Amino acid sequence: MTFNFSFNPSPDSSPATSRPASPVPAIERPPTPVLPPSIAPKLHTLKSLLETLEVSSYERVPSLNNLPRRPLSDTKVQAFRSTPLPATGGAVDVGLSSPSDLQNGVYEGGFKTWEGGIDLAAYLDLQSSAVIDQYENIVELGTGVGLPSCALLRRWLKEPVAEEGQQKKRRRLIIQDFNIEVLELVTISNLFLTWMDVKGLLKAEDENALGGGYVELEESQQAEFLADLEAHGVEVYAVSGGWGVDMVKILEDVSSEGTKFGDKSWLVLAAETIYQVPTLPAFLEMLLAGVKAGGLGWIAAKEFYFGVGGNVGEFVKKVQKKGVEANEIWRTGEGGVGRVIVEVKN
Ligand SMILES: C[S@@+](CC[C@H](N)C(=O)[O-])C[C@H]1O[C@@H](n2cnc3c(N)ncnc32)[C@H](O)[C@@H]1O
Repeated sequence: MTFNFSFNPSPDSSPATSRPASPVPAIERPPTPVLPPSIAPKLHTLKSLLETLEVSSYERVPSLNNLPRRPLSDTKVQAFRSTPLPATGGAVDVGLSSPSDLQNGVYEGGFKTWEGGIDLAAYLDLQSSAVIDQYENIVELGTGVGLPSCALLRRWLKEPVAEEGQQKKRRRLIIQDFNIEVLELVTISNLFLTWMDVKGLLKAEDENALGGGYVELEESQQAEFLADLEAHGVEVYAVSGGWGVDMVKILEDVSSEGTKFGDKSWLVLAAETIYQVPTLPAFLEMLLAGVKAGGLGWIAAKEFYFGVGGNVGEFVKKVQKKGVEANEIWRTGEGGVGRVIVEVKN
């Protein structure tokens, strides 16, 4: 099923990167819920994803303390200059050249910035380090452009590096998207831009009126990026593919030494991932495994996704039915569709 949310330009973005605002139905009747085809999950190292890094411009998100992100137009240039060209009907083709925001089982919306991603990143920015530091393992499910992950990375990179003799903090960040193309083209670029910004490599004097500008990558920078992550105790992994038991196994394997997926060292983040009914059980499988032994979940979502059927009420009910707590901890959206963050814990 192809689905299109209407887009409203927002102060945060140029028209090309405008984010889905209150969704408006583009179809007459709700679709019959059918489980879309999935993609086998796969673990990737940060180094392997950096091989395709090619970002050449950035824009800023004012509501996130000017966090930089890759403009959609820049992503398109890289995607459609590649050899071979993206396959017709594939994730890049559907996500970047067609007007649809989702095509089930092919592309699930990761190239664009959704409001929930901004909400969750802003919520993370509000937390103290004492809160965030409780979690040695943080996974962002359905990361897409990954603003929450970038907000975390910015926080960690701004902290002083441990001095000799001091114990280094350990943080493992796992970014996950249905489409490997999203991780390669957007999420990694945004993490890299975040690092460039903290290092002062995105220069204010070079910025255009909208607070964006051009980037010239230098060969030595990738090694510096990796070295800085290491110095700050940050390890980044990525997982592509569909949610479900096989992905749970990957996260079990990736849990840092001495910890277990779902224990109190885990924070599970997700924004705009409960929009459709058929994939909700698979998402719940991930989330509930991630909080099963003391882990915490923060899930940002719209109250209703008209036309595709997902809604927060149903999600909360399903979590609670499993004997797990789900409480609204944040809300916005006066007059329009409400947007919330739900905290999930066992
Ligand atoms: C609507 S986008 C939201 C992206 C991002 N979190 C944001 O708020 O901007 C939904 C995200 O969930 C992921 N996703 C959707 N269905 C999925 C599935 N069945 N398995 C794995 N990932 C899925 C997509 O790849 C996409 O990144």
